[in-house]
Amino acid sequence: MIISIGQGPQYLNQTVSVQGWVTHKRSSGRIRFLVVRDGTGLLQGVLVTERAVPEIIRIFDQLTIESSLRLTGTLRSDPRAPGGVEMEIQDLFIFQRAQDYPITPKDHGTAFLMAHRHLWLRSSRQQAILKIRHEVSRSIRDFLNDRGFIELAAPILTGAACEGTSTLFETQYFDLGPAYLSQSGQLYMEAGAMAFGKVYCFGPAFRAEKSKTRRHLTEFWMVEPEMAFAQLEELMGLVEEMVCFLVTRLLSTRREELHQLEREVGPLEKITRPFPRLTYQEALNTLRDKGTVVAFGEDLGAEDETELSRCHDQPLFIHRYPAACKAFYMKRDPLDDRLVLNMDLLAPEGYGEVVGGSQREEDPLLLTRRLAEHGLAETDLDWYLDLRRFGSVPHSGFGMGLERMVAWLCGLKHVRETIPFPRTLYRIYP
Ligand code: 4AD
Ligand code: MG
Repeated sequence: MIISIGQGPQYLNQTVSVQGWVTHKRSSGRIRFLVVRDGTGLLQGVLVTERAVPEIIRIFDQLTIESSLRLTGTLRSDPRAPGGVEMEIQDLFIFQRAQDYPITPKDHGTAFLMAHRHLWLRSSRQQAILKIRHEVSRSIRDFLNDRGFIELAAPILTGAACEGTSTLFETQYFDLGPAYLSQSGQLYMEAGAMAFGKVYCFGPAFRAEKSKTRRHLTEFWMVEPEMAFAQLEELMGLVEEMVCFLVTRLLSTRREELHQLEREVGPLEKITRPFPRLTYQEALNTLRDKGTVVAFGEDLGAEDETELSRCHDQPLFIHRYPAACKAFYMKRDPLDDRLVLNMDLLAPEGYGEVVGGSQREEDPLLLTRRLAEHGLAETDLDWYLDLRRFGSVPHSGFGMGLERMVAWLCGLKHVRETIPFPRTLYRIYP
């Protein structure tokens, strides 16, 4: 019977087969060892010279690192073996004998590893990160689905900008003129919220970001919930609840992977609601006290966010930014027309913005004026104005970047390892 390595402990003292790839191989006197990986775990196989068939020893000795194989033998418990189970090899079949594997235990630079990303995915560290990503994606869906949100697909090819015109990837769309890779599904989710009440999309977003930072990808994944009738307060409540849910779930399901990444879990265990909240103005004051002057109207930079998020051991909301540095669709603060009803959530430990969202302008006349102010063509977004003409309601939503969340949860310096095949200013291979 063929089992996965992760099932090994259920088959102790039985003869089974596993299929996978060789990660280590060594001999010590009359005993040969190898370690096999299949994505569910590691299994140590042993071959004892005097008990083995000579033909099996001959095949074993041909094995190279990353050769693919099927091993058959009896499993026994062995606390010294990785995964706690060892197999005495009785039979061995090679699918393919691998050529010299380029990734070796020596310290390769990141550029080399990124150029070999298709192989680097096999390393245990990358597997731990991507299993955590998988868990976070799944938890996001569970959280929203359990609260009555309907998942809607947003289009990836779009006719207009959502998040400003400076980061658009453009392509020619038949005879209809330019089309753009979506920067955000938000505008479409607003249509969805007016149909279903509570919706979300979860998919890739594209930004032609010329910035080469540890937080920016040109292609990233974002979950974007949108709720009819919700105002900014309720939105922040949902963000808090969701972040706490993701952290708690991860701590209960993926401790082993967090440990493998040497992620200190103490700071994650401390995360509780409510999260501290600062207005943009209060954030400027805090920064000023620390010696950084940001002029009113300027957006906070990555370094400002790092500085602010280091002041707290909880995620931190910054709300009510100046309209001047934010997107056209944000509703103005009725108490101060210079400000918008938006919020960013900064992750602690210096991670900076992981969530951005707002209440949306629901008045068709004001929204038309904002389009003009932002240099956006009304004709491209006439459908969007319809949402305000036919039963407009207060509504709010946010976007959470999956890679930035995973980078924080894993304690990684850079977002590039949190996505299987990162796309950045200088990388589109492999
Ligand atoms: O703050 P952003 O630009 O907001 C929006 O796109 C809204 N339309 C979302 C909404 O209200 N539905 O992006 C939201 C989040 C950021 O907080 C960040 O986590 C992530 O998306 N993000 C990026 N992640 C990686 N690389 C980039 N270039 C990113 N740009 C944004
Ligand atoms: Mg933002």
